[in-house]
Amino acid sequence: MAISDKDRIFQNLYGLHPWNLQAARSRGAWDGTAAIIAKGRDWIVEEVKQSGLRGRGGAGFPTGLKWSFMPKQSDGRPSYLVINADESEPGTCKDRDIIRHDPHTLIEGALLAGVGMGARAAYIYIRGEYANEAKVLQAAIEEAYEAGLIGNNASGSGYDYDVYLHRGAGAYICGEETALIESLEGKKGMPRLKPPFPAAAGLYGCPTTVNNVETISVVPTILRRGASWFAGFGRPKNSGTKIFCISGHVNNPCNIECEMSMPLREMIERYAGGVRGGWDNLLAVIPGGSSTPLLPKHICDDVLMDFDALREHKSGLGSAGVIVMDKSTDIVRAIARLSKFYKHESCGQCTPCREGMGWVNRVMWRMVEGRAEVEEIDVLEQVTRQIEGHTICALADGGVWPVQGLIRHFRPVMEERIAEYKRQHSPASLPMAAE
Ligand SMILES: Cc1cc2nc3c(=O)[nH]c(=O)nc-3n(C[C@H](O)[C@H](O)[C@H](O)COP(=O)(O)O)c2cc1C
Ligand code: SF4
Repeated sequence: MAISDKDRIFQNLYGLHPWNLQAARSRGAWDGTAAIIAKGRDWIVEEVKQSGLRGRGGAGFPTGLKWSFMPKQSDGRPSYLVINADESEPGTCKDRDIIRHDPHTLIEGALLAGVGMGARAAYIYIRGEYANEAKVLQAAIEEAYEAGLIGNNASGSGYDYDVYLHRGAGAYICGEETALIESLEGKKGMPRLKPPFPAAAGLYGCPTTVNNVETISVVPTILRRGASWFAGFGRPKNSGTKIFCISGHVNNPCNIECEMSMPLREMIERYAGGVRGGWDNLLAVIPGGSSTPLLPKHICDDVLMDFDALREHKSGLGSAGVIVMDKSTDIVRAIARLSKFYKHESCGQCTPCREGMGWVNRVMWRMVEGRAEVEEIDVLEQVTRQIEGHTICALADGGVWPVQGLIRHFRPVMEERIAEYKRQHSPASLPMAAE
């Protein structure tokens, strides 16, 4: 089903209208919230399950299922919802627009999701750099308190619910859920091994679910319009509408909410004004934020933008940051720059990540120059396989996947660069040889 304007959940994604409560209400926010809460916790979880919503934070875990892991009976500890507004994945800037232009979708979602999982409060963890966004969100939270929408007897539902905003200091790793919880508690943001999963022991040792901003913000509309409405978009198991962030070598970089499973080419041409210089000038696309392996043009020609289609091509939907690169791109350099990012953001706990990402980064910069042996491409590939899956968190996986994608699809470019370096530095090409 193709999306029409009225089917867009985020009616103010571009900030053309005010973000405040009155304007949000005119767009449908906070409409009948108490009646939805009255349907009960089980109904909310079941509806979210039926909608097919999968987490928008990167891993695509089914949201309703995740909520169902939260304890039904309290053992005396409160339960918490933690909302991940760290949004540090290069190429991704969707949560930002939800927060600054439509914050009430997030706050109402926080309440409804909180009821669904039996939570007492929501903590929103926002990256430090989002200073203005944090100001808007804090003001919107205060508006919601003043209007009785959250707090004691939230929205007149009889449910007591608080929403707190916490600003991070700006670290990519604090987007990882266990590191985020540590940071929220005032400690150094370092991931920890799971289990225990946050649903068993999360924030302050209490049952916790961590969800992305977009995941939570779509919940009120799903509950109002019905699971089948949301499930009507996209392919089975990949349902719903979704915000994509299209950047790079396109004529009109943009955030766009459209239906899942849309062909990548159609998305770029319809919403982003096409590839600079035309589709044939396309070199590659990183489809889901910097952690996801790139796709060369021939795959981009007809790939669908959803979790499963991208996985079939050994990439992923990730955070839906679509980075378009035309033929002017030095693709080896682009990927080397990403490995520098991951090396820099490693928290340093795991040897394969701390040492491995540094090593990968150094080799990648030699590959940029071609100052390497062809056999080293295989060594590089093997080392990435030794890093992948051998660390506490997925930062290291996300750090090596782009390198693996480069080798998988652009190995001849790397080989040619090495050959060119050798030509230029062979004894015959040195100035003395010409004398
Ligand atoms: C290194 C790293 C960084 C992450 N950064 C973010 C982030 O900025 N925002 C986010 O929502 N999820 C991020 N995640 C994923 C979270 O750990 C978690 O899976 C997600 O917030 C769950 O929300 P969802 O189920 O709604 O997708 C990151 C994961 C890793 C390993
Ligand atoms: S994989 Fe890297 S970022 Fe994650 S815990 Fe280990 S060292 Fe830290």
